[in-house]
Amino acid sequence: MKLVFLGPPGAGKGTIAAKAKDVYSIPHISTGDLFRDNIKRETELGKKVKAILAAGDLVPDEVTIAMVKDRLASDDASNGFILDGFPRTIAQADALETISSLDKVVNFVLDKEDIIRRLSGRRVCKSTGRTYHILYNPPKVEGIDDETGEPLIQRDDDKEEAIRNRLEVYEASTAPLISYYREKGLLVDIDASASPDEVLKSMVDALR
Ligand code: AP5
Repeated sequence: MKLVFLGPPGAGKGTIAAKAKDVYSIPHISTGDLFRDNIKRETELGKKVKAILAAGDLVPDEVTIAMVKDRLASDDASNGFILDGFPRTIAQADALETISSLDKVVNFVLDKEDIIRRLSGRRVCKSTGRTYHILYNPPKVEGIDDETGEPLIQRDDDKEEAIRNRLEVYEASTAPLISYYREKGLLVDIDASASPDEVLKSMVDALR
């Protein structure tokens, strides 16, 4: 199964992808996670994109496309993948067409109030990227990762100003992909407002 997860920041793409990868036995490829891993390891790429991510702007297309092309060439992606956060521009979508076919594009739909609630309450484990929410998916011990015992942090781009910018960037650059993929007959809309397990179930049912 070759899937793209589309949707505004905080719609739950990463949360659902972490579950769906086991349902379909395919890798979860998040461009945001790949960039954050490079930032953590202080690679050349990481140094180049650090300030861009913190502000909630988009990394230039050529950098992002090269990274995804490289990742999709790995053996584990040969039978399928979930692309989470890519493509995010029409130019990226055009490039993806030259790299791989797609089975479906899942569009996670969530209103703005819920998006802001989810992003402002998100906490993550820096070393593993595991995601929590202070209300909807709290860790067993407040502020501590369930498995590593490390303190949880708030992503730089989950601060108020960066959230506002990410929503504007989404509307300007990424939302046009909804009609792009609808016209190709690939789009499946999923209501992302229910619990993660319910969202997963409605997606799996819709893809059947
Ligand atoms: P990225 O990491 O992709 O950020 P994003 O698209 O803004 O998505 P998020 O990770 O914020 O949200 P999500 O939809 O995965 O939600 P989540 O599951 O975490 O990208 C970060 C940055 O990298 C970009 O801003 C850009 O700079 C750069 N970048 C990445 N890709 C790029 C590209 N292609 N081109 C250029 N630049 C790129 O859930 C959010 C919260 O809600 C969590 O706390 C979670 O616990 C909670 N939650 C989730 N689902 C539910 C539910 N059903 N009910 C209740 N709570 C829920």
